Amino acid sequence: MYEAKKFTLPSLEGISDESVKQHIGLYEGYVKNFNAISKQIAELAMEDWEKNMHPVAELIRRRSFEFDGMRLHEHYFEQFEGGAKELAAGGALGKALQKTYKPKDVVEVMTKIGNMRGPGWAILYYDKKGDELLSGFSGEQHQGHFVTLPILLALDVWEHAFLLDYGATGKGKYIDAFFKNLNWSVIEKRFDEAQK
Ligand SMILES: [Fe+2]
Repeated sequence: MYEAKKFTLPSLEGISDESVKQHIGLYEGYVKNFNAISKQIAELAMEDWEKNMHPVAELIRRRSFEFDGMRLHEHYFEQFEGGAKELAAGGALGKALQKTYKPKDVVEVMTKIGNMRGPGWAILYYDKKGDELLSGFSGEQHQGHFVTLPILLALDVWEHAFLLDYGATGKGKYIDAFFKNLNWSVIEKRFDEAQK
């Protein structure tokens, strides 16, 4: 069983307190649903796995959707804690990003991915085995992941992240606001951990 985390968030520029409040409510829903599904699986499987095979199978599929929603939102909100902080260009992550994306910039690349059609997440991963930074798009939140790779940066581009502040066509403006508020030291710390 998991408990919803509490985030210490500053007031964000371009993302309203009300939007953040509603978004955290959605995050807490993922935690609640993950726990509820886990309980149901245990009960149904214990009662009679064969008899309950179909609901159990469906619940097992749904559970990872809830888990991914929970964990991605934890990555997302933690990135705002401590307030906006720029990427250290001369640091380990700054150098690795420059090597990967030059002449483009990681913000430009992640913005383009985030603006792809459909709900999901633009995600930057690090693969220690290949020493590669990989940027991708997870449809909804459970599809298209690079398995086993730690997540460095998670940009939520579901409509619920921007609808209140910018309307249905405001994803681009929201993504700009996201990067304005991003604490890059959190991303740098994740990169340090991923390299160990
Ligand atoms: Fe979200």
